[in-house]
Amino acid sequence: MTTSREVRETQAPVNGNTGPETAETARLESAAAEPVTDGQLRNLLDIDSLSRQQIDTLLDSAEGMLEVLGRDVKKTPALRGKTIITVFYENSTRTRISFEEAGKVLGADVINVSVSASSVSKGESLYNTALTLQAMQVDALVIRHPHSGAPHFVARHVSAPVVNAGDGMHAHPTQTLLDLFTLRQKLGTLEGKKVAIVGDVLYSRVARSDILGLVKMGADVVLCGPPTLMPAGWSPGETLSEVGMEGVLVAERLEEALEDSDAVMTLRIQQERQDAGHLPDLREYSNLYGINRKRLALAKKGAPLLHPGPMNEGVEISSDVAHGAQSVVEEQVRNGVAVRMAVLYAICSRGRD
Ligand code: CP
Repeated sequence: MTTSREVRETQAPVNGNTGPETAETARLESAAAEPVTDGQLRNLLDIDSLSRQQIDTLLDSAEGMLEVLGRDVKKTPALRGKTIITVFYENSTRTRISFEEAGKVLGADVINVSVSASSVSKGESLYNTALTLQAMQVDALVIRHPHSGAPHFVARHVSAPVVNAGDGMHAHPTQTLLDLFTLRQKLGTLEGKKVAIVGDVLYSRVARSDILGLVKMGADVVLCGPPTLMPAGWSPGETLSEVGMEGVLVAERLEEALEDSDAVMTLRIQQERQDAGHLPDLREYSNLYGINRKRLALAKKGAPLLHPGPMNEGVEISSDVAHGAQSVVEEQVRNGVAVRMAVLYAICSRGRD
């Protein structure tokens, strides 16, 4: 895997329409269960596929990218001549814009496909859309999709590298990398650190990816949320070693999760995915699980407070702590650009080494 050193040294100053839905949806779901990977980071589809060493290398690379972003002229020719296409079948602010900025800072041409203005709105399938974009000699496809496994499905059918920008309830690997990067900045190391993750674990692709990433980096993860918003079998008081998640505990009480934690992450209540009525009342949720000043005080002094965004202030997080001294929400966004630069560079510069 490449690092950002070369980059620094070469400085110049949704509509969810996927076409033939039934068969394709089945293929997507099964694809999610089988990671597509190789040691060279050809694609970035999930955190599961990355080794701890690959994660460390990407985070080290992101350090260098952050330095580039701090310059007066934040433009490098590292990916000049490369074309990156982003296709978002779901709305996004942070992820889409940071991928665009990351590609542009590295000198690539970045094309954002507006799904509502594309032939997807005429019924073109994900498969045919991906083949069409591949035919344009793209160097990386960045895909967000409401169906779990959609980026894996595309990766199996195109030769261009694919980056998962969030798929259904499954994975959000670049969010995890930026969360790990932010935590590493704040805590130095994740080894042996207690990280509390609070809220809607069931629907959260961020939670699933972050749990896997944190465990890989040696952190102790404590989850807490309404039992209806926990995956089946993740019961309060149990560790998740039986489902392959060593070092992950589901807390019985919110206080237990927060007490002496080194960092707190609160998850967005995904109102768009609550069809099953798992969460009848947002006010009650806020009363029982919302992170506020009093609850944050249970964590270690100065423990960073993370939120992947977008925030529902007054629901999962109170406005005073969302914008308070311990909040690292804006740093997460800034770090997201650096981390995505590292990912795009690692993927698109293959063949130049
Ligand atoms: N965290 C995150 O994925 O935010 P966006 O939906 O705005 O990209």
